[in-house]
Amino acid sequence: MAGASSPPSKAPAEPHTPDTEASKAECVCVAVHVRPLVESELAEGCEHALTVTPGLPQVGHGAHRFTYDHVFGGDMGRPAWELYGACVAPLVEGLFSGYNATVFAYGQTGSGKTFTMGSSGFGARPEEARGVIPRAMEDLFGHVTQRPAMHCTVRVGFVEIHNEEIRDLLTAAVGGGGAGGGAGIKIREVPGQGVCLAGAAEVEVTSREELAAVLEAGSVLRATAATGMNRRSSRSHAIFTVTVEQRRMEEGEDGAGGPRRCSTASQEDTHGGGRSGDEAEDDAAGEAPQAAASGEDEGGAGSYLCAKLHLVDLAGSERLKRTGATGARLQEGIDINKGLSELGNVISALSEGKPHVPYRNS
Ligand SMILES: Nc1ncnc2c1ncn2[C@@H]1O[C@H](COP(=O)(O)OP(=O)(O)OP(=O)(O)O)[C@@H](O)[C@H]1O
Ligand SMILES: [Mg+2]
Repeated sequence: MAGASSPPSKAPAEPHTPDTEASKAECVCVAVHVRPLVESELAEGCEHALTVTPGLPQVGHGAHRFTYDHVFGGDMGRPAWELYGACVAPLVEGLFSGYNATVFAYGQTGSGKTFTMGSSGFGARPEEARGVIPRAMEDLFGHVTQRPAMHCTVRVGFVEIHNEEIRDLLTAAVGGGGAGGGAGIKIREVPGQGVCLAGAAEVEVTSREELAAVLEAGSVLRATAATGMNRRSSRSHAIFTVTVEQRRMEEGEDGAGGPRRCSTASQEDTHGGGRSGDEAEDDAAGEAPQAAASGEDEGGAGSYLCAKLHLVDLAGSERLKRTGATGARLQEGIDINKGLSELGNVISALSEGKPHVPYRNS
């Protein structure tokens, strides 16, 4: 799993001063989540292929050792429930300071990416086993309630890349028609906004329950199928995008006219017993370096921020001999491997600072 954060596309006029834990840390963090053996593996007498070096974020395979930022799970890794707090919570917090971020779950088919992201079956999982996405949703609306001085608008988009085509999982999920709608979604570069998916739906949500319902409905539409290595193998790369827009409310303003203030079930409770409005306002002001510096907003310093979080559950890399794929599954496997290989090339080009990044090879 990898998480990365970057400043918003509208760069500040002044040099940017990082002010959150997310921005103080490295901008790319790579963590390993070692899953336990599943029933079928136990029945076959399989053993763990990886060892975890005690006290180090390091895994071993044979004579090789690989060091990461974190290792969770396995006999010696950090407890799996700590993954969210260590890797993703700072990114969700950073959203409210205007930082864009992406979390990728990457790995071989059957290694536990979909389970780790928690993009399906949330209701069925016990609290401590919830995945990254449900935790992020809860956390996100927690942050909203802590900012009573801001109008917050939360919008979500959900697409999958299946056989090299982008399909909208939201169009159908919100009642727009057949499964995997949105044919004709195009990748466009819009001046001032960066890369956009033209034709993909975005839906405004006002509570974590609404957000969960949209995600769950979209997940059901996602392409999955049984292969020789996973009974419910994801056959597509799924991208769940949350956009948080914040605008500072003017004195006496009740929220009409501008971006709607987010309401959550616990908002009144927070007003009544927890932090005061002033405290929350101080926080919001302190965490808005970009807008404060840019002066682009009519409302003045720190009055408007917008940032996106992409939560990506990639399809798994496959050895086609081992998955036993034929026909449609085989074509999916070929496209999955191609997409992952090109993603690797993009990340290499970015990390090496190459002048050409092959974004459009896949
Ligand atoms: N941490 C975990 N604890 C218990 N079971 C797990 C865990 N992670 C994964 N599993 C189980 O392992 C199996 C494979 O997991 P999953 O479908 O998430 O893999 P995947 O990496 O998404 O595979 P693919 O690339 O084929 O989509 C599932 O049965 C899942 O329930
Ligand atoms: Mg999967």
